[in-house]
Amino acid sequence: MGVGKRKKAPITRDGSKSNSLSSKKTKEIINKFHQLLKRRNITTDEKVQRQIDEEIESLGGMQAYQHASTLGQSATRGGDSSHVFIAWLQELRVREKLQRGDKMSLLEIGALKPDNYSNQRSFIDTELIDLRSNHPDIVEQDFLQRPLPASDLHCKDAISASLVLNFVPTPTDRGLFLLRLNTFLKHHGYLFMVLPAPCVTNSRYLTRDRFVQMLQSVGFTLLREKIGDANKGARLAYWLLQKAGQVDIDKQEYGKKKVLKQGSNLNNFCILL
Ligand SMILES: C[S@@+](CC[C@H](N)C(=O)[O-])C[C@H]1O[C@@H](n2cnc3c(N)ncnc32)[C@H](O)[C@@H]1O
Repeated sequence: MGVGKRKKAPITRDGSKSNSLSSKKTKEIINKFHQLLKRRNITTDEKVQRQIDEEIESLGGMQAYQHASTLGQSATRGGDSSHVFIAWLQELRVREKLQRGDKMSLLEIGALKPDNYSNQRSFIDTELIDLRSNHPDIVEQDFLQRPLPASDLHCKDAISASLVLNFVPTPTDRGLFLLRLNTFLKHHGYLFMVLPAPCVTNSRYLTRDRFVQMLQSVGFTLLREKIGDANKGARLAYWLLQKAGQVDIDKQEYGKKKVLKQGSNLNNFCILL
């Protein structure tokens, strides 16, 4: 499936990459990249774009960003988020409900590593995509450009979008991303979504309730939720949703930015449908 199936050598083969970045340094690199990519996306000035591109290159390019993100999900730093998804699937007894010999098809969007679900191979078949592939098993593909499924048979039983939506540069594309999640899932399919918790706890334009309402309006029902408490060092928010309802978007409500919180230390994370 998909355009531009370019497979690349694993990033881990690059001996020059150190695995010993501190947790603080890792976060700094990731934040710096997010800031640069955001600025790159906003500006239409070609000179500024070139300067930002040079700055990104001087930091080691997207490879360095992905390397930092991979370290961020290493087991010593809490591991990747797939264990939360698997635990929820177990609670819902999804494996037991599969027909004998059947597997659940899973699309992992933004798959930095090829093996997040390798322990679950007996009941999960994965398709892994990322804007930039680190490994031959990860197809290089922009989810926003992924060709639409020809029929329901080509849709997935589950999609994981862990720390990807916050990477999508514009509020409108984030809305499109949510709609596409619905398009690529079978009816009753599962959506596992992870965001940095401040996207919904500390944004001027988005609250947890509004995010869940938006997901409902693109056809999802909330099954599980876990929102990290920043005061206790938990930085992520996790949701498990199921494609169950109709797409019914209130454009008046969700089509334009609405200030929901006032304050100087808030972020501007926003989604428009
Ligand atoms: C912060 S990393 C998250 C990796 C991993 N899923 C995790 O939870 O730690 C974000 C990844 O999403 C990828 N990504 C961002 N936008 C994407 C898109 N539109 N389609 C596919 N991958 C995307 C980036 O290239 C990057 O590798």
